[in-house]
Amino acid sequence: MKEVRPWNAALYDSSLGFVSRYGQDLLQILKPAAGEKILDLGCGTGDLADEMTKLGADVTGLDASEEMISRAREKYPELRFIIGRAESFRAEEPYDAVFSNAALHWVKDAKGATESIWEALRPGGRFVAEFGGKGNVRLFASAIEEVLASRYDVDAAARNPWYYPSIGEYASLLEQTGFDVVFAELFDRPTPLGDEQGIRDWLSMFARPYFSGMSEEQTAEASEWITGKLTQVLARSSEGWLADYRRLRIVALKRG
Ligand SMILES: C[S@@+](CC[C@H](N)C(=O)[O-])C[C@H]1O[C@@H](n2cnc3c(N)ncnc32)[C@H](O)[C@@H]1O
Repeated sequence: MKEVRPWNAALYDSSLGFVSRYGQDLLQILKPAAGEKILDLGCGTGDLADEMTKLGADVTGLDASEEMISRAREKYPELRFIIGRAESFRAEEPYDAVFSNAALHWVKDAKGATESIWEALRPGGRFVAEFGGKGNVRLFASAIEEVLASRYDVDAAARNPWYYPSIGEYASLLEQTGFDVVFAELFDRPTPLGDEQGIRDWLSMFARPYFSGMSEEQTAEASEWITGKLTQVLARSSEGWLADYRRLRIVALKRG
C-alpha cells in the first residue's frame, strides 16, 4: 500500500517520544481490561499497543505508514501490526474498543474514519481518542504559511495537512455515524520541545506536506526562517520552547 506520507520512524522514536508518553493519560481513560480485543488506530511505532498488551489486552496496531509499522514490528515482534488507512480499513472481527492517540488529525476524510471505526466495533464498544483539536498549533501553522508565502511564493494554506475539529463538529459527526458521545474535552497542552533543534525536528517530522516539491536545501532554509519566527512568538519553559498544542479528547460508544 502506498504511504499516506513519509514518516521518519527513527526520528519519531529518538526526538518525539513525548507523543506516546502523553498517550499514557489516554490509556487511563480507556482502561483496557484483560482479554479485551483492542484496535490501536494510527499506532505509529507501537509503544502504546505494547502497554495495552502488558495489561492483558489482545491488541492489533494499524497504521498507514509502512515505515512506522516496520519499526513497530522490529520493536515488538510478538505483537500484531497491520498496514491500513483509518478512512477505509475494514476489520475482520469486531473489537471491544478502538483507541487512537495523536493520529486522527492526519485523516482529512473524518467521515470515512468514523465509519470505519463504527464498523470495527461491537455494539456498545467504545471509541477512545485524542488528537489535535480546533486551534492546535496555530502559531506553527501561521509561521509556516507566512514564510512559505512570502519567501517561496507557495500557497501554503492550501497545503495545510491537518484536520483540527471543534467538539461540536466532531461530536456531531460521531452522532450522525451511530455513536453516543459520553465525554468530550478540548484543552490546551503546551508541549515542551527543548531548544531550537526540537522545533526543527518537529517541522521535519510533522510539517513535511507543506514542503512538498521543495528541494532538501530549500526545506532546510525555510525551516530556519520558520524556527526564527517561532522563537519570537512561542512561550518558553525550563524544558524549552512550548508548542501551542490544543487537544481534543473524546469517548463515544457504538449504539447497540
Ligand atoms: C504522531 S503519530 C502517533 C503514533 C502513536 N499513536 C503514538 O501515540 O505514538 C501519527 C501516526 O498516524 C499515522 N497515520 C497518519 N495518517 C493515517 C491514516 N490515514 N490512517 C492510519 N494511520 C495514519 C502515521 O503514520 C503515524 O504513525
